[in-house]
Amino acid sequence: MKVLVIGGGAREHALCRSLSLDPAVTELHCAPGNAGIAEVATVHPVDQLDGAAVTALARELAADLVVVGPEAPLVAGVADPLRGAGIPVFGPSAEAAQLEGSKAFAKDVMAAAGVPTARSYVCTTAEEAAAALDAFGAPYVVKDDGLAAGKGVVVTSDRAAALEHAAACERVVIEEYLDGPEVSLFAITDGTAVLPLVPAQDFKRALDGDEGPNTGGMGAYSPLPWAPEGLVDEVLATVLQPTVDELRRRGTPFSGLLYAGLALTSRGTRVIEFNARFGDPETQVVLARLRTPLAGVLLAAAEGTLAGLEPLRWDEGAAVTVVVASEGYPAAPRTGDPIEGLAEVADEHTHVLHAGTRTGEDGEVLSAGGRVLSVTATGADIAEARERAYRGVAKISLKGSHHRTDIALKAAQ
Ligand code: AMP
Ligand code: GLY
Repeated sequence: MKVLVIGGGAREHALCRSLSLDPAVTELHCAPGNAGIAEVATVHPVDQLDGAAVTALARELAADLVVVGPEAPLVAGVADPLRGAGIPVFGPSAEAAQLEGSKAFAKDVMAAAGVPTARSYVCTTAEEAAAALDAFGAPYVVKDDGLAAGKGVVVTSDRAAALEHAAACERVVIEEYLDGPEVSLFAITDGTAVLPLVPAQDFKRALDGDEGPNTGGMGAYSPLPWAPEGLVDEVLATVLQPTVDELRRRGTPFSGLLYAGLALTSRGTRVIEFNARFGDPETQVVLARLRTPLAGVLLAAAEGTLAGLEPLRWDEGAAVTVVVASEGYPAAPRTGDPIEGLAEVADEHTHVLHAGTRTGEDGEVLSAGGRVLSVTATGADIAEARERAYRGVAKISLKGSHHRTDIALKAAQ
């Protein structure tokens, strides 16, 4: 099977790594890729937001499957011309990707499907925003309606700051604050059948102790030993299946990866957000535990034959990933610095996934983004996986870089 992956972050590196280990995959391509992906796939300098260019590349390669990784191309509708050309594609249509592309749309789908989520108002004026903030009280949750690359959500007890964020966005969703631990649960779906993966937890804040600004994610681990038994079945029955059924009922079936960001509150499980693609960095730990070869699963979703698939097999152990970010991330990341020590990290339990990297003129690896690398390790338990991941991080040097030192710490204890 010839597979083309669209994207160039650590999530796509994790996808490419798993696909490269699948004996069914005979050729692996990625556009645009990054310096790490270039070690396992042939990379192509194609604009991932250009549906016509991506379709032309898929045709030229005679790809049997195209996997669209990031939200930007999905929301831009890159999957649509591929499907139109009869090429199996893993990833939702532009219409179905609105589940991530518009928070108001996601709320509407959840209301129609009876999915538990925070109560909310959609506001377009300062007066509406002020009224919504006062209806819920502090802490205030203000979300930009559209895609904002991790910068759209402000959670604050400062009413003026909440109003300021609302004013900076064209349309916002203001909602009740949800307390309790967060869980990321991914499901693969062909629009009808829904196959949940194993839960993971992401660390969204930049600094230890969940301090500092929100980021795309600074680390993750799986499994979650503290999660209630039956969580996956509950979320499948109350969140994932009803959402997939509702989108099919509307004539815009969702096929690809449905990501449920959940809060386990004292009043029950609630959806914080949906994403229309694999999460980053959670994918790094989920795929590190997946034993079933990946390509056949993604192809079954693309072709609508997921119901016939054998149950997925998982490693009983644990996986932990730690993100190495560049100086200044998330506000103003510094790029273009050489990364040393990469070759010393990989062993049978540990691997490095590249996010913002590129190859320099002399073949050296340079930083090229905010989140630069994601060091992922497996172990018999979280403590062992964690120790291995941090041992890997310690071998890498990048001027001014930073990482959290408490990823999976509580879970390991
Ligand atoms: P999102 O971009 O929707 O994932 O939001 C980013 C982060 O903001 C989430 O991971 C939560 O930590 C926080 N957040 C979002 N919505 C809420 C809410 N209703 N209550 C509390 N925290 C929230
Ligand atoms: N890890 C959060 C996200 O992928 O949106």
